Amino acid sequence: MQQASANRVERLVQQFEELYGAAPELMVRAPGRVNLIGEHTDYNDGYVFPAAIERDILIAASVRRDRQVRLFSSDMGVSSTFTLDAIEKVSAEGERWSNYPRAMAWALQNRGLPLRGVQAVLQGNIPPGAGLSSSAALLVASGLLLLSAAHQTLDPVELALLAQQAEREFVGVNVGIMDQFISVLGKKDHALFIDTRTLHYEPVPLPTSGVVIVIANTNKPRGLVDSAYNQRRAECEEALAYLKRFLPSIRALRDVTSEEFTRWEASLPEVPRKRARHVITENERVLQSVEALKKGDITLFGHLMNASHNSLRDDYEVSCTELDALVEAAWALPGVYGSRMTGAGFGGCAVSLVAEEALERFCQEVPQRYREATGREATILITRAAQGAERLL
Ligand code: GLA
Repeated sequence: MQQASANRVERLVQQFEELYGAAPELMVRAPGRVNLIGEHTDYNDGYVFPAAIERDILIAASVRRDRQVRLFSSDMGVSSTFTLDAIEKVSAEGERWSNYPRAMAWALQNRGLPLRGVQAVLQGNIPPGAGLSSSAALLVASGLLLLSAAHQTLDPVELALLAQQAEREFVGVNVGIMDQFISVLGKKDHALFIDTRTLHYEPVPLPTSGVVIVIANTNKPRGLVDSAYNQRRAECEEALAYLKRFLPSIRALRDVTSEEFTRWEASLPEVPRKRARHVITENERVLQSVEALKKGDITLFGHLMNASHNSLRDDYEVSCTELDALVEAAWALPGVYGSRMTGAGFGGCAVSLVAEEALERFCQEVPQRYREATGREATILITRAAQGAERLL
């Protein structure tokens, strides 16, 4: 129970007892994530390097005799009930969060796993809509809960794949595998290098002293992120189709080196050319940053993060004024190794690696400069890399 504070767990148990009249039999947690580098590469068969964060979703539950799933969101004060025999998507604003547990139940049953009804209370502390994967955490926590309730187990990679399938096919957002994967497989004090084609993964230790992961939230609502996300995916497909004319054996942008790209890029129209350039150079940056971290070269790691931001801003065009303002405020301070936007973009958060002794100044000056530049308030979240999803009770 290392990551969830004892207080939160106690309050959740109490709330469960008040609501259902008995103690919960099960409790699970699944964390959100921050991606250190490797953005918009996972749906191009590429490399990513995220870490799970010390913010998560907790679900307390007990098993029912019938096939009802009764959920209560402690944060929203809203309940939602469905039956495992006919799982439907809901569109009412206040109840939409329940599409994630519904999606997960749908995906598990689809895979032939017999499930049982549950009654549950959910509580989370991942800021929603901030690009820290609260949806992936909700999917994964729901999956782990439903499996535990039915005395079923699943290989962790398969759980991540089913969570991705749930989001794509039931919720309807065509996401890559990164968020679900790290929520399941995150390792305390490690970032996870993931090859999203082979699903081979390798935990790489992060320094436990001297440098801190700082997440700064723009607090800008991410308006059109789903449609822009799908548009970027389509532009990558278009770039791939062009490049296949010259490089017939490639299956994804992941298969193109920057040397090959330089040779053929002039034949591509501007938009697919810029998108491809980002993906191809970003994959190379991930490989270099993994090596840098293994050698303890945080300075190089930071430079690669900065280059990633520039590429996301100029070539992939998924940054925004607010993200640029946060990142530039961080870049201007001493003791900041690197800073970049993280997640899908268009708002959400920036991630920085900051020397411990520079942290206090960072927390004062970055929000101040951000306020001056945008008129908005930033929120700062300091985190260590956390353990992936687990059953607590
Ligand atoms: C979202 C998606 C991920 C990934 C990132 C961008 O978080 O869910 O699969 O594509 O955007 O790197």
